[in-house]
Amino acid sequence: MKFKNTLFLLLIFSSTCILSSQQYNDDLGSDFHKKKRQEFRNQMPANSIAFFFTAPIMKRSNDTDFMYHQDPNYYYLTGWREPHGVLVIFKDNQQDDNGFYNEILFVRERNEYREMWDGKRLGLKGAKNMNFDRVLLRSDFIENSIKIEDFSNVLNMNIRDDVRDFKDDKYDLYNIQNKFLEIINSKSFSDNLGDLKREFKNTSVDNIMSSLRQKKDSLEIKLLTKAIKISSLAQIEVMKAIHGEMTEREIQGIHEFIYRKYGAAHEGYNSIVGAGANSCILHYVTNDDINIDNQLILMDLGAEYRGYTADVTRTIPVNGKFSVEQKEIYDLVYRSQEEAIKKAVVGNTFSDIYTESLEIISTGLIRLGIIDDASEARKYYPHGVSHHIGLDVHDPGSRTLEKNMVITVEPGIYIPENSDCDPKWWNIGVRIEDDILITDSEPINLSDDAPRSSNEIEKLMKQESPINQLVLPDING
Ligand code: GLY
Ligand code: MN
Ligand code: MN
Repeated sequence: MKFKNTLFLLLIFSSTCILSSQQYNDDLGSDFHKKKRQEFRNQMPANSIAFFFTAPIMKRSNDTDFMYHQDPNYYYLTGWREPHGVLVIFKDNQQDDNGFYNEILFVRERNEYREMWDGKRLGLKGAKNMNFDRVLLRSDFIENSIKIEDFSNVLNMNIRDDVRDFKDDKYDLYNIQNKFLEIINSKSFSDNLGDLKREFKNTSVDNIMSSLRQKKDSLEIKLLTKAIKISSLAQIEVMKAIHGEMTEREIQGIHEFIYRKYGAAHEGYNSIVGAGANSCILHYVTNDDINIDNQLILMDLGAEYRGYTADVTRTIPVNGKFSVEQKEIYDLVYRSQEEAIKKAVVGNTFSDIYTESLEIISTGLIRLGIIDDASEARKYYPHGVSHHIGLDVHDPGSRTLEKNMVITVEPGIYIPENSDCDPKWWNIGVRIEDDILITDSEPINLSDDAPRSSNEIEKLMKQESPINQLVLPDING
């Protein structure tokens, strides 16, 4: 294959599909995505073109893939859920025989046989219903030869290196994406542009996407609120159901069962369910301990509802009552979080929230004799306190707060075994994490349904749970 100034790859495409088209179940709707494309276009530099590629399919093992998940930027701008597509956005109107256009969506072709195995594809017809100026097949992306040398600036996604092996797929867009970047980054390409006397730039789409995605529209807030409500409800049900004979895995299962019961398709990230020593591992996802009685259990999970993910953590005593030491640490994190949430107001920064939470934790740890000096506090509180949530659990966005951002506030204290303090504190790990909507006035805690104070938690844990009525046969003989 040969590349010169023009993006050119030869693929022979032939496929006739007679299957009917369908629409996705998209709560945001095609108007939302169109509006976001226009907002993106408004921020594009003069005479520029932007390329977005769908997320790759990831191999799990042998011929099995991980569940497909669209790239959040791509989903935000298109609502498109299938792989093997490209979105091209032009700053300025382009013209062809059919008139003006300023965007093209390239989609995967229909394939009756593959659809029997893997499910429906929308194809050209489905895409045409979704409000794009131009819709073409992925093979057209190759053959259509968009002349990128006509543009002064090419905006790109960051390329990934974790792509499914598609050796047997001659329409593989991921090889093409790699080739594409190779071309526009190559010296010969810029030399040729030099002949054209243009200043050429290849820049990331990240800054523009971050500026758009950081503040949520009302439709997005609605979906996030639902994801957070489902996640909080799961925390409540687990608080009622948990007992010392349960395992970490079983508790994870109860959360995730409730997510699905309320229509959430996925978890927004790998669920963290760790008791005792495991509660001190910040991103513990093994969740395979079977001896959890009389310990604190840290549960950091989030339902993903229609693409938007919650991020909620509760830490509770498995036996329903905090020990003296567990309660001291828990109440300290709780107080720190209470004060930190108050700082989540327009104009403040993540750093303002963090400083408030650290100050309270440092003072408390000194009072308890766990540290001698505030400078040691980070040993037991080693992470930041806030991030944006949205289509990603760690959504892009500014560290300065504006109205309609949704962020977490999540202080924690983790005291692993052999820490330099009285062993009575060892293996206590506490994180409390809530999802906060920034408003013109007070912050709104969207995950407030799930109790947070030690008293409220102990009270709720006394309630009966319908889950404990489910008795399954013993299969161990
Ligand atoms: N669940 C990951 C985090 O809290 O950031
Ligand atoms: Mn978080
Ligand atoms: Mn979390």
